[in-house]
Amino acid sequence: MSDLARLLARQLLDEARALPRRGARRLGGRPDVAACATTDEIRAAARRALPKVIFDFVDGAAGDEWTARRNIADLQALEIAPRILVDVSVVDTGTTALGTPIALPVIGAPTGLTGLVHHEGEVGLATGAHRAGSIYTLAAMSSYSIEEVAAASPGPTWFQTYVWRDRGLVAELLGRARAAGMTAAVFTVDVPVAAARDRDRRNGFGLPPRATFRSVASGLRRPAWSWAFLRDPRITAANVAADPHAAGEAISVAGYINEQFDPRADWSALEWLRGVWDGPLVVKGLTRAEDARQAVALGADAVVVSNHGGRQLDHAPTTIRALPAVADAVGADAEVFLDGGIRRGTDVLKAVALGARAVLVGRPLVFGLGAGGAAGVERAMTILGEELRTAMTLAGVARIADLDPSLIVARPAADDPSHPSTTTGRRHPGG
Ligand SMILES: Cc1cc2nc3c(=O)[nH]c(=O)nc-3n(C[C@H](O)[C@H](O)[C@H](O)COP(=O)(O)O)c2cc1C
Repeated sequence: MSDLARLLARQLLDEARALPRRGARRLGGRPDVAACATTDEIRAAARRALPKVIFDFVDGAAGDEWTARRNIADLQALEIAPRILVDVSVVDTGTTALGTPIALPVIGAPTGLTGLVHHEGEVGLATGAHRAGSIYTLAAMSSYSIEEVAAASPGPTWFQTYVWRDRGLVAELLGRARAAGMTAAVFTVDVPVAAARDRDRRNGFGLPPRATFRSVASGLRRPAWSWAFLRDPRITAANVAADPHAAGEAISVAGYINEQFDPRADWSALEWLRGVWDGPLVVKGLTRAEDARQAVALGADAVVVSNHGGRQLDHAPTTIRALPAVADAVGADAEVFLDGGIRRGTDVLKAVALGARAVLVGRPLVFGLGAGGAAGVERAMTILGEELRTAMTLAGVARIADLDPSLIVARPAADDPSHPSTTTGRRHPGG
């Protein structure tokens, strides 16, 4: 046998040995997250693992999902102009966020009710983000309680809250987050009311989950998810389940929470929150420069340029276009973060170059969770970190501090008919 024939035979034998393991995973609906090499592959793996109604709850957005799609498209529309002949033998993706060292400028965004996606829920998300060397943000509307998440994964964690009508409940949650060691409070300001999400309506998504012939058939096609869900159903918002008004049925918790969103909340809500939380405070969900200035004037230590991943106001500006003006307005007075549409390491590079201290990621981590629990979350984070390192190396940037707007060029609109609004000839979007 020639050397080549021997090599090929050995490789085919290895493939054959791996077949039963891969086949078993496939049949059981458990994708192999270690084999995923991109965020898109993680998303595809989650799609194979989750019933359609659950996949759509994560993947979907408000209205026509224009903003959700454009968050991604506007990031893709930017070019990176590499620096040449720079020593990139050592590239460091490490930075800090509100004083906490992180291995990569990617932080877990708050995402509620993830127990529907995987039985590990927010415990899996926190564990994956921490193992990757970063911060996790726990949503007030989580499936696991503040105490459960802090005990299972005691790494750096921020706590996201809304200012609900029941201020006593918000103050109590903040006190519990503080006692559990969570370091920063994240105040989400883009949910005066819950937005309409067409996919959820069409799928009959609701809490508690509704059994229809279609949803049962969809569950039967995803036996691993269904079995885990039936064994340990997580269908309530754990942090508020103990509230006397909300006790009992999941449905009453959902109703209670919907009633709690306060469309009357104005800037005095931020002043109130600043008064009850003495640690670092982050305002999440703005796209206007003057709003960022006002938030900082009222005591915010950081802002997140965010449109809730397109899940609230459809046709809100995309975050990468809004970022430069917000970063200019805030200057050195506060840290600026961005979320929405980050799917590649090059997206992270672009956002940091245009003024973000770090980015938050929502769907990529929740898809990682759906595909493989904490290991899938860690894989999703690691993919972004590895891609960022490669992009920095090829762009001639050895340290995060060396990323600046001169690296980023907007592609002329004429080049790309699918992005008619891409700014022409400007150095970066949004001026
Ligand atoms: C399933 C899901 C649940 C979410 N729940 C919350 C939440 O409870 N609080 C919040 O501030 N943002 C929530 N978000 C928005 C994220 O924090 C983040 O702004 C958004 O996902 C970023 O966009 P990306 O998914 O494209 O990364 C949620 C997003 C998803 C996908």
